[in-house]
Amino acid sequence: FHTVTAIRAAVTRATQESARRQPVVGIVPTMGALHSGHGALLQAARTSADIVIASVFVNPLQFDDPQDYQHYPRQFEKDLELLTRHGVDFVFAPDLEQMYPGHPEAPLVRVSTGELGQRWEGASRPGHFDGVATVVTKLFTILHPPAPAVCEAWFGQKDAEQLAIMRRLVTDLNLPVRIRALPIVRDENGLALSSRNMRLNDQDYDAALSIPRALVALVERAESGQELDLEELRGHLRAADGLDLDYLVVVDPTTLQEIEDGALDKPALALIAARVGPVRLIDTMDLRPG
Ligand code: PAJ
Repeated sequence: FHTVTAIRAAVTRATQESARRQPVVGIVPTMGALHSGHGALLQAARTSADIVIASVFVNPLQFDDPQDYQHYPRQFEKDLELLTRHGVDFVFAPDLEQMYPGHPEAPLVRVSTGELGQRWEGASRPGHFDGVATVVTKLFTILHPPAPAVCEAWFGQKDAEQLAIMRRLVTDLNLPVRIRALPIVRDENGLALSSRNMRLNDQDYDAALSIPRALVALVERAESGQELDLEELRGHLRAADGLDLDYLVVVDPTTLQEIEDGALDKPALALIAARVGPVRLIDTMDLRPG
């Protein structure tokens, strides 16, 4: 479905025709260029919901770098194959005019994510999380089924800040959507799958592997009760060829505020971001699982 009117009609019809008294609609928002990370979200949504909707929309509002927006991979036909394989019921793939009538200035009214949206990725990519929160609010408004159906939306833990912001978004704006999360899917060498990985050459790829390795080192230190010594790891990454470290921090998963070195008496996430070749990569690991 390419238009708001058409997808709304389809969702309404499907929920009304459902044999379930209170059907569950599962939404999986994506920007396309789908890989197995998206596949895991689709599969989880398929298992949990009666009706699954995936959206495919490269959202210009969340790109602070026009080059990154322009080069973001677009492969809709291939995406449709993967979506079909995962048994989604509906795909919502609007064009710019459907999502932002009157673009490029639009929309005038946007969702602000406050200080939460200004940490880490937010600091390096000004406006990014406001753009994400705005488009996701629009998607929830467009795709939400009429009562008594209920709605849940799936997000990956890879984008840990995005996930924390989505949880605050539905709480703060009373959006009737339950946020569900899934662990990161990695390739055989431990690199978190990302649509941007296809722009890495062999040399970049080898450099990128330092990212999960640094996180594994932190998990091992945390598990054995050693000093985390972030500064030592940062130094190691800064000295690595072909990788430009932006940040490596340990944060509270809800507030995203930095946790002092070694204070692992409550949930803690390690966050990392680095530029490798033409792309910026992010990754995260839980330092206190369970
Ligand atoms: P996109 O980068 O396409 O990611 C869509 C969803 O897939 C996000 O929830 C993301 O966390 C998840 N995902 C990506 N790589 C993953 C991996 N390796 N393992 C597990 N999950 C993974 O995130 C966005 O799009 C956009 O910001 C969006 C929410 C669609 C708003 O435009």
